[in-house]
Amino acid sequence: IFGAIAMAPRDPILGITEAFNADTNPGKINLGVGVYYDDNGKVPLLDCVRRAESVLMEQPAPRTYLPIEGLGAYYKAVQELVFGADSPVIQEKRAITVQALGGTGALKIGADFLKRFAPGSDVYISDPSWENHRALFESAGFTVNNYTYYDPATHGVDFDGMLAALRAMPEGAIVVLHACCHNPTGADLTADQWGQVIDAVQEGGLIPFLDMAYQGFGSGILEDGAVVRRFVEAGGPLLVSNSFSKSFSLYGERVGALSVVASSSEEAARLLSQLKRIVRTNYSNPPTHGGKVVATVLSTPELRQLWEDELAGMRVRIKQMREELVRKLAEKAPGKDFAFVRQQVGMFSYSGLTKEQVGQLRDESIYAVDTGRICVAALNSKNIDRVVDAIAKVL
Ligand code: LMR
Repeated sequence: IFGAIAMAPRDPILGITEAFNADTNPGKINLGVGVYYDDNGKVPLLDCVRRAESVLMEQPAPRTYLPIEGLGAYYKAVQELVFGADSPVIQEKRAITVQALGGTGALKIGADFLKRFAPGSDVYISDPSWENHRALFESAGFTVNNYTYYDPATHGVDFDGMLAALRAMPEGAIVVLHACCHNPTGADLTADQWGQVIDAVQEGGLIPFLDMAYQGFGSGILEDGAVVRRFVEAGGPLLVSNSFSKSFSLYGERVGALSVVASSSEEAARLLSQLKRIVRTNYSNPPTHGGKVVATVLSTPELRQLWEDELAGMRVRIKQMREELVRKLAEKAPGKDFAFVRQQVGMFSYSGLTKEQVGQLRDESIYAVDTGRICVAALNSKNIDRVVDAIAKVL
């Protein structure tokens, strides 16, 4: 029965990590996956996480099942982070939050939920978008279309094109928007442009689904989350997926959340009951450890401050690497202008390298995504010269 099953293609991002892991060159560099490494090339164990784990270890608890929607303390902490502690949707009990297996898990719960209750809608993702968005929504049964987003000529957003695409979407369409630190381009909307997007979403009766996997990596926790609060103020349905993989460096714990805003507390209760069904029939209930760590950090003022400081440290180091990359490329590849890398935000740079050039980098054991996306957060003071030399060579 399995004899005719074809080989699936490698995942465009995690498949690169597989190839990287198989590479025996000790000087190999992985600029593919969106993971933050410190200046020694190590994935950090944040101090706030280590200290929260010590607190948890001091009161060892049995590992019983969590509620289907997750840990109560996590639910509260995530809502306050995503919507703001004084948000009316929290006070009015109009927001519901489900602990999820990372940002991807949150997107999938949301996708399954929407397929059940808005089965006739199509999904629209930015062109380009995170490599997994299309596959994820298609696997939930949706037709997935692109909306205009990136302009390679300016390395910025083709905003007129985006607005026109939003205005042309049919009522009820599901539009996936990157709340901050657009993946893969690093090109974000301005505050004014967000206002126009929110108006277009409202006027068109679209269903906004905000993907917020990089909160804190752009300008700051509050600043990066501002768009969520603006959507809430505008009213209407809203889905938000968020992830603590990057901001807490908790990749392997798979800790994220899906939040949905309803029009009343009574409606919210109904939505939560349906989301619980989706979770129950997929993986029953979420794991405990990551959720407990995040909830402990977010609800302990001292650890919360430490987290904010550590996150700011990651953000600043990425910005320094952008500066260094631009400066060194200007020296090694004169005539090629990489100044745009400075304007990009978040972990990634859509470098403009072609698939062929990415292939040539791979021959030197430097791994990037075929689209030319590189993870700036994987650069450090020891590997940047090798990367710059290799890029200059393939240019
Ligand atoms: C990325 O875009 O590299 C990250 O979000 C990791 C992933 O799951 O693809």
